[in-house]
Amino acid sequence: MQPDTVRSVVLLGSTGSIGTQSLDVIARNPDRFRVVALAAYGGRIDLLAGQAAEFRPDVVAVADPAAVPELRAALAARGVAARVLAGQEGVAEAASWPADVVLNGITGALGLTSTLAALEAGRALALANKESLIVGGPLVKRLAKPGQLIPVDSEHAALAQCLWAAGPTGPDASAVRRLVVTASGGPFRGRSRADLAEVTPEQALAHPTWSMGPVITVNSATLVNKGLEVIEAHLLFDIGFERIDVVVHPQSVVHSMVEFVDGSTIAQASPPDMRLPIALALGWPERVADAAPGVDWTAAHTWTFEPLDDGAFPAVALARHVGAAGGTAPAVYNAANEVCVEAFLAGRLPFLGIVDTVASVVSEHAVTEAGSVAEVLDADSWARIRARELTGTA
Ligand SMILES: NC(=O)c1ccc[n+]([C@@H]2O[C@H](COP(=O)([O-])OP(=O)(O)OC[C@H]3O[C@@H](n4cnc5c(N)ncnc54)[C@H](OP(=O)(O)O)[C@@H]3O)[C@@H](O)[C@H]2O)c1
Repeated sequence: MQPDTVRSVVLLGSTGSIGTQSLDVIARNPDRFRVVALAAYGGRIDLLAGQAAEFRPDVVAVADPAAVPELRAALAARGVAARVLAGQEGVAEAASWPADVVLNGITGALGLTSTLAALEAGRALALANKESLIVGGPLVKRLAKPGQLIPVDSEHAALAQCLWAAGPTGPDASAVRRLVVTASGGPFRGRSRADLAEVTPEQALAHPTWSMGPVITVNSATLVNKGLEVIEAHLLFDIGFERIDVVVHPQSVVHSMVEFVDGSTIAQASPPDMRLPIALALGWPERVADAAPGVDWTAAHTWTFEPLDDGAFPAVALARHVGAAGGTAPAVYNAANEVCVEAFLAGRLPFLGIVDTVASVVSEHAVTEAGSVAEVLDADSWARIRARELTGTA
């Protein structure tokens, strides 16, 4: 049954891959969703102002205060009277704007303040910005009320749907044996460590099945993204790391699976298209009709599954290690990785240097509790400085 009320949406990171796909879902479902706030960094003002002209939000925020004059001019030129907010505080204010749901599609650890602001304001939080959950794990978990965090990552949306199917009375944790997170394997699947020595940013950015922003695309090539997702699954579903497996599935149609104690496995399948998990998160728990095309069962398909090569791609094992250590360790893993990805994309670090450097930074870090935002941010900035020193990009 379709709900008869229109849900108001705050969209953070509206100019990115997740943001633009979210607006596609919203534009096709005006009877279900209405945009009340848009936020971005400020790098694509023309696109942001065009979105504001089409969706007429109450407020538009940019993290970069220097982008405000251009934004005001672009809004005025389009006859948009939205209030303008600026700086990281402005984006956080947008995150707590009155709304039914906040979708956080910001990229990187900088999304943490907005995640915390949305949770503190009591909003339902559709979370694409996995980094904020990972770096601020204990803080985010402490703030989030049951059901307040809704995953947007296709793997976690799949796990949530499989768990949903766990029993007639709802998810039953004791019935779950393991979570099986699928990975496409990225553009370098099947290569040995030696084969990876010379790969270029251009090759790393050519993902075989998903079209995404540059950071997550490189993270998919190194498998750091899968490492982050293992930690995300642990935090979202309270399942121990020893019961979270990763399996490589190059077709990216089975988005993840849950194996139950009786040996039964339930999988969620749909062609790779983020509009489906985005729509499910925006409308949660109701589904949005025709959010994305389903599997064409009139055509022949082959789905394959293979084990992950931890030797060539050590990022997942390293993520398990930092996830189990807890506290500030995941924030350090993420921050060192963000610095290394930037250096790799700028041609200043070889591909293998990304995870090797993250491992070195993690091994030097003295883990603390992550009991406050300040503590998390301290660990984050220490890891960034150390990663820049180790890569010679300081
Ligand atoms: N893309 C996917 O298919 C996908 C799938 C699963 C999960 N995710 C996750 O979703 C998040 C977004 O990924 P993406 O691929 O959409 O990234 P993206 O294409 O690079 O877009 C990032 C967005 O965040 C904005 N932004 C950056 N820093 C900001 C800040 N400090 N404050 C406010 N906005 C800021 C950018 O604005 P400007 O345009 O002004 O720079 C842009 O709108 C990431 O956490 C990623 O891991 C993405």
